[in-house]
Amino acid sequence: MPMLKAEDVRFQYEYENEAPQIVLRGINLTVEKGSFVALLGHNGCGKSTLAKHFNALLLPTGGRVLVEGMDTAAEANTYPVRRLVGMVLQNPDNQLVSTIVEEDVAFGPENLGLPPAEIRQRVDEALAAVDMTAYKDHSPHKLSGGQKQRVAIAGVIAMHPDCILLDEPTAMLDPKGRQEVLDTICRLNREQGMTVVLITHYMEEAALADRVVVMEGGMVLEDGTPRQVFAQVDKLRALGLDVPQPTALCAALRQHGIDLPADLLTPEECAAALVQRIQDRKA
Ligand SMILES: Nc1ncnc2c1ncn2[C@@H]1O[C@H](COP(=O)(O)OP(=O)(O)O)[C@@H](O)[C@H]1O
Ligand SMILES: [Mg+2]
Repeated sequence: MPMLKAEDVRFQYEYENEAPQIVLRGINLTVEKGSFVALLGHNGCGKSTLAKHFNALLLPTGGRVLVEGMDTAAEANTYPVRRLVGMVLQNPDNQLVSTIVEEDVAFGPENLGLPPAEIRQRVDEALAAVDMTAYKDHSPHKLSGGQKQRVAIAGVIAMHPDCILLDEPTAMLDPKGRQEVLDTICRLNREQGMTVVLITHYMEEAALADRVVVMEGGMVLEDGTPRQVFAQVDKLRALGLDVPQPTALCAALRQHGIDLPADLLTPEECAAALVQRIQDRKA
């Protein structure tokens, strides 16, 4: 059974004195357990609205959303769905509630009414998983942006979700903080088998996912491996999206008649392909 499934999901925001705004126009998407999916698309295309459907913060106005087979529209499923799917938002300051790091991480498990020993264990494990154990007695407000976001992630994983949705978690961070958070996300997926859905504007981050889904105007436009999706440089640019820099460099060199593959993602792959062409010419 898939972790998440959207079946022809439609959604509109209702307004007081205006016509409703249709935001999702028939989304079909399956996220398998243990996978790492990046969700791309320019501002306003409906990414956050879709993400909120996956932990029952919003309910579809048409179609169905299933979380481990549970229909989010059934009221009895709201609580179990929210326990299975954790959400991390863009601004860590909006997610931190306490003045001490470990108390902050304990907040969720405490609300679950777990016994103190279990809470202690979950907090320790969650802080270790985001590599923030050394800061457990610190005040979150004195941490760097990347450290704060890792504490926010610890607070979510201390709830033991099966899946974590991250809505532009690195958008407010400096490059170092972004790297820390990204390393944490990759580790949770690879080492703990957590299902990850990452909404991001950074193509280098999306390139690390197993799968890239591109949305436009409330629909899914592309769905494939990072190589398959990013190879379509012109199509993505027409949507106002970028591609990873190595992919863009190869595309620019191809325009100058240098025969390079379209589906290279990393600087290393790009360098290896260029070296190969140079050696071909020498031979
Ligand atoms: N809470 C809300 N109430 C009304 N309209 C909203 C709300 N949230 C988002 N919208 C509108 O829905 C559209 C899609 O927004 P969103 O899902 O946030 O897109 P994205 O995350 O891709 O930028 C936008 O036009 C936005 O203005
Ligand atoms: Mg958004």
